[in-house]
Amino acid sequence: MAKKIFLPPKEFAKKAHIKSYSEYKKLYNESVKSPEKFWARYASELHWFKKWNRVFSYTKKPFCKWFEGGKTNITYNCLDRHVLTARKNKAAIIWQGEPEEDVMIYTYERLHRDVCRFANVLKKHGVKKGDRVCIYMPMVPGLAIAMLACARIGAIHSIVFGGFSAKALQKRLIDSEAKVLITADASIRKGGFVPLKDAADEALKGCKTVKSVIVYQRGKNPVKMKRGRDSWWHEEMAAPDITDICKPAIMDAESPLFILYTSGTTGTPKGELHTTGGYMTYVYLTTKWVFDLKEEDTYWCTADIGWITGHSYIVYGPLLNGATSIMFEGVPTYPGPDRFWQIVDKYNINIFYTAPTVVRSLEREGPKWVKMHDLSSLRLLGSVGEPINPKAWLWYHKMIGEDKCPIVDTWWQTEAGGIVITPLPGATPLKPGSATLPFPGIVPDVFLENGKKAKPNQEGYLVIKKPWPGIARTVWKNPKRYIDTYFSKYKNIYLTGDGARCDKDGYYWITGRLDDVMKVSGHRIGTAEVESGFVSHKLVSEAAVVPFPHPIKEQAICAFITLKRGAKESEELKQELRSHIAKEIGPIAKPDRLYFTDALPKTRSGKIMRRILKAIAEGKSDVGDTSTLADPEVVGRIIKIVKAKA
Ligand code: WT7
Repeated sequence: MAKKIFLPPKEFAKKAHIKSYSEYKKLYNESVKSPEKFWARYASELHWFKKWNRVFSYTKKPFCKWFEGGKTNITYNCLDRHVLTARKNKAAIIWQGEPEEDVMIYTYERLHRDVCRFANVLKKHGVKKGDRVCIYMPMVPGLAIAMLACARIGAIHSIVFGGFSAKALQKRLIDSEAKVLITADASIRKGGFVPLKDAADEALKGCKTVKSVIVYQRGKNPVKMKRGRDSWWHEEMAAPDITDICKPAIMDAESPLFILYTSGTTGTPKGELHTTGGYMTYVYLTTKWVFDLKEEDTYWCTADIGWITGHSYIVYGPLLNGATSIMFEGVPTYPGPDRFWQIVDKYNINIFYTAPTVVRSLEREGPKWVKMHDLSSLRLLGSVGEPINPKAWLWYHKMIGEDKCPIVDTWWQTEAGGIVITPLPGATPLKPGSATLPFPGIVPDVFLENGKKAKPNQEGYLVIKKPWPGIARTVWKNPKRYIDTYFSKYKNIYLTGDGARCDKDGYYWITGRLDDVMKVSGHRIGTAEVESGFVSHKLVSEAAVVPFPHPIKEQAICAFITLKRGAKESEELKQELRSHIAKEIGPIAKPDRLYFTDALPKTRSGKIMRRILKAIAEGKSDVGDTSTLADPEVVGRIIKIVKAKA
């Protein structure tokens, strides 16, 4: 059966930044043949205090540099540049709180002022260029203000998702040696308070570098303030010596902008380091072309700023383009499963960017929730975080996009800085389920184990053969890990960790992670991280964690646990272990399934064979070769346990 291809609607294409497939092709070819000329052109659309000497240098492979010698400040480009024009009074960020009546509108001018003021607060606390500032906040305006304030003075922000636990925060505080922590009294979730400051206090117990804690008031939740260390955001901002003026720090193009931790194949998360000039240029251009942003658009990306999607496509990308970006504090299903559609209706959203897991879960709620609202303002839809299956794609296209909105299925990663494989909505014919084609400047390929190119439609490792301006420059304090993780399997070629196939039209079909990384409701979680969480419990001897397919979450977590001698298996202990993981990492890492077993399948050298456990969790009848196991009998026993619980 011929699968349907969706062409860009004519009206859309006519007005789009990139209007046709041939225009895309031309730009793409140029970007590969003359990358320096290509990137210089778009970097020049931004403001530089001093122009670069070289667009691209790659003398110490695999470490690349972009716009060397250039001097800029990303907040000058996000704020000052617009304040000098008619955009001054335009909404930069519209903040919608979880309670419907909680709304704040930040014009470019007001955002500029608050960012400058908070930058002055940071300076008062002794924050200097290159210092790390950790931000552990809910989705409140202060989060965007805090990150921009860091960038204003050249401090490196390290945002930790507000859903992470105290333990997870502590690891990141210690690794980044943060000087200041910015947090909130509480976050609001489904009408209740989550005590964020308590978690921050807990995390700070083991962390010596943090000298000041600034607390944003969200919940009026009673908190303990530690004298000499803690202060309130609103009091700091209102202090008489804090002015509205803070000159932007003059930053080198390769000065660090932020660290963002992400999960890998070991228990310790990696601090991906992004720098200034290349990241800025890359998110500026991807936002403009992928979302086809226009002056009058209202744009909404539903991610949390604690993830890279929020960094690049709620804050930096939209502001670099002078757009109006919605920031939403709540969840898709509270107070009802129509919350997202109600917000689209309320603000006349034109561009809506979300994750497949959201699409699938809202599809399940039934069409009545969608039909309650007028979604006719929408002109473009986006998807990110995991593969979107064709069924969900078609529902999204028909029900939400009313058959008129192109869908941009954007493939990228924390490491990438910005969108890497994607349609351009006015140019690319869409195949539901495919992230389609590389963004200009990106040279992807699919390699087999031996480093040879895969044939059309043959699955292999997705790689990227040339550096692009947005790529993370290193792993914080660990350049060796950068090389080992990304550039060693195929020398100096970027290994994404994903599997993919490329069809005869050059379209990429992402098949999911090939390493020990899971994607649970779009969240990236390492199996090793969850395992080390389990074994830190006093009754656990060993743990093995694998993903299994889940209709809404894409993947869910399955854990196999062996207990210490004398510990008793019970339902209560299962619950306790699940909450233990929530404490160690965060609620997103709680396993859906948890089995006690007397042993795990191991090789004679003691290596746990997760491949076998994965096959069992997936319910496969054939678990593959078990001949290298020290005790093949274990497999039968585990299958029995899993079947008994099914
Ligand atoms: C992993 C990166 C980058 C934004 C959010 C996630 C998966 C991401 C897609 C997509 C298929 C996707 C990959 C990737 N992924 N987007 N459109 N289609 N898979 O960033 O947390 O660093 O996760 O998300 O597996 O490696 P992240």
